[in-house]
Amino acid sequence: GVPVFPLTSPPTAELHIHLEGTIEPAAVIEMARRNGVPAPAADLDELLSRYSFADLQSFLDLHYANLTVLRTEQDFFELATGYLDRARAANIRRAEIFFDPQTHLGNGVPVGAVMAGITGALADSERTHGISTDLIMCFLRDRGAAAADEMLTAILPFRDAIIGVGLDSTEIGFPPELFVDVYARAAAEGLHLVAHAGEEGGPETVTAALDLLHVERVDHGIRSVEDPDLVRRLRDEQVPLTVCPLSNVALRTVDTLADHPLPGMLADGLLVGVNSDDPPYFGGYVDRNYAALRTELGMTAAQLEQLALNSFESCFLDRAVKDAYQDEVR
Ligand code: ADE
Ligand code: ZN
Repeated sequence: GVPVFPLTSPPTAELHIHLEGTIEPAAVIEMARRNGVPAPAADLDELLSRYSFADLQSFLDLHYANLTVLRTEQDFFELATGYLDRARAANIRRAEIFFDPQTHLGNGVPVGAVMAGITGALADSERTHGISTDLIMCFLRDRGAAAADEMLTAILPFRDAIIGVGLDSTEIGFPPELFVDVYARAAAEGLHLVAHAGEEGGPETVTAALDLLHVERVDHGIRSVEDPDLVRRLRDEQVPLTVCPLSNVALRTVDTLADHPLPGMLADGLLVGVNSDDPPYFGGYVDRNYAALRTELGMTAAQLEQLALNSFESCFLDRAVKDAYQDEVR
């Protein structure tokens, strides 16, 4: 018979994807071998046994251990090419991709090698993969404000290769307040501003990101639902929220997908989209997130279409380009 839901995911923009968080476990083992650096686990099975998390920090500990194997321009080229291959299979048409150069600088990898590898892979992504791409450099909030300021200075020679800045890593204990000055500097450079907030931190972290950092988009933001005034504001101002359902379950910010606030946020008129965050760690790409929303939350084809339309609405793109993508969804 005719399927009730489409078997493929709608075309989507992915606005919350950490490039380093797309590294496949097998690539971690292989890159360690080829670069002659210690692998974070004895073999693939032992590594995979660690892919189970109690909270954000337990994921970040494994994530950063895995990233010590990334050493060369070629490693970053392969990382970004691998992402494009899998994103195409998930029907991604537009990606605004986070990357964390502070992590690699800390591992002794110069920012030039990181940038050359990534931009080399993404330069022609529209033609090679049918995906338009841009980069957003994230500050690691747990390294503090002075390090973020140094990172912004270090990326300025590559200013034209990025469209914005973000804020990620450990949320609790590192509130938006710390990053007011570096966000003002980034704004003066004409960069777009986003930040992770309201993932593990409460709704006050979302309000602070909006009021103090002047972010244009909030990453996660799910704990906003605890503050009715904030929900009204997010609706009235149509602030985009990049929600990551499978990530939230994997990191236990929600108990099960059935408890996820996404359907309520959509019903309240918030500009929410579906994103994968760190797909090999959390159970898959955007297509797997859509599939889980269908099967475990019973979301309808009309709701999924709205989420896909919202994803393009939330992009840093011109109106006419958004319209063309949205016409493809309908
Ligand atoms: N780095 C990679 N994924 C992240 C997430 N979900 N939250 C904060 N920092 C991250
Ligand atoms: Zn994230």
